[in-house]
Amino acid sequence: MKNLLRFSLAALLCLSACKKNDNTLVLGEFASLTGTTATFGQSMNDGVQLALEDLNKNGGLLGKKVEIVVEDDQSKPDEAKTAVLKLIKQNEIKALIGEVASSRSLAAAPEAQKNKIPMISPASTNPKVTQVGDYIFRACFVDTFQGSSMARFAYNDLNLRKVAILYDIKNDYSVGLMEFFEKTFKELGGEIVEKQSYSEGDIEFRAQLTAIKSQDPQAIYVPGYYTEVGLIARQARDLGINIPLMGGDGWDSVKTVEIGGPAVEGSYYSNHYSAEDPSPVIQDFIKKYQAKFGKVPDAMAVLGYDAANILFDAIKRAGSSEGPKIRDAMAATANFQGVSGSITMDPQRDAKKKIVILKIEGGKVKFHKALDPS
Ligand code: PHE
Repeated sequence: MKNLLRFSLAALLCLSACKKNDNTLVLGEFASLTGTTATFGQSMNDGVQLALEDLNKNGGLLGKKVEIVVEDDQSKPDEAKTAVLKLIKQNEIKALIGEVASSRSLAAAPEAQKNKIPMISPASTNPKVTQVGDYIFRACFVDTFQGSSMARFAYNDLNLRKVAILYDIKNDYSVGLMEFFEKTFKELGGEIVEKQSYSEGDIEFRAQLTAIKSQDPQAIYVPGYYTEVGLIARQARDLGINIPLMGGDGWDSVKTVEIGGPAVEGSYYSNHYSAEDPSPVIQDFIKKYQAKFGKVPDAMAVLGYDAANILFDAIKRAGSSEGPKIRDAMAATANFQGVSGSITMDPQRDAKKKIVILKIEGGKVKFHKALDPS
């Protein structure tokens, strides 16, 4: 009884005084669990949680159980920055996973860099993200590759010569992809016959689409997020525009087909993985994910899982939870076997990986082609 009393008293004191639990390693995650691109954050978080579950089942890290504190940034860059500051200052996290969207990673990354907290973005593809500093990493390819791959595909495979672009002017990711696509498509000899823009949250695109129609393009490149893509496709069809649409990984949500319906049929987009890939690593992951969440994982789920595992692997190899040591170990990541492919951090802390091109057919997203990094 006396011992029990002493123990409870110690536990009580510890609760109030021991800010950090010595038996737990605390990491942070910021994600768009709500807001305009909620499926991005939710999928990423599902992937991260699955990786965490595996990790703790196998004993955690550095002899400790691992906890990941998750902050919702509501799909807003300002909130992303606030969330990361809170995780660093209040939760005293040792490293950070996030965000999916480049604009939100860009808003938060300077805080991680300043505080020497290693951050790994699962899916932010804009080149500027890792240029913020040497503590910022990503588990995916960059948009110079994504934009130029789609341009090459349009020119060489689809034999297109005249393409229009409709992009989101307020979104770093969309602006980047527009530029990289245009550059390569022109270099190949193609022509961008019309370029129009919109801003996230818009619901009316008929003026831009009418201008595009008047230039008679063979396809429209729409490097945006799923929320607007479905609406754009429907309004294009309403205006009698019956050419294929093309996009990037921002299309990767069940919502694209849900909102777009028949209007997105025959469209192509580039992505990080295809659920139809027969590789056992991918098929085993899909089975495991489906058993837990009852659905097929999208690219963000896969990249959330991979990003978390890259971080865990780096902490293990660092043998320490100190920021600079985790950073050095993460920079040395080589041939890491992720679900989305083999991952080696290049000197710019980006991952060189293959890209897949998917086609929407019969309301389903089908694998079309894979392209290796150049
Ligand atoms: N690549 C996008 C960005 O940087 C985010 C994204 C990744 C969206 C993967 C969907 C799938 O903003």
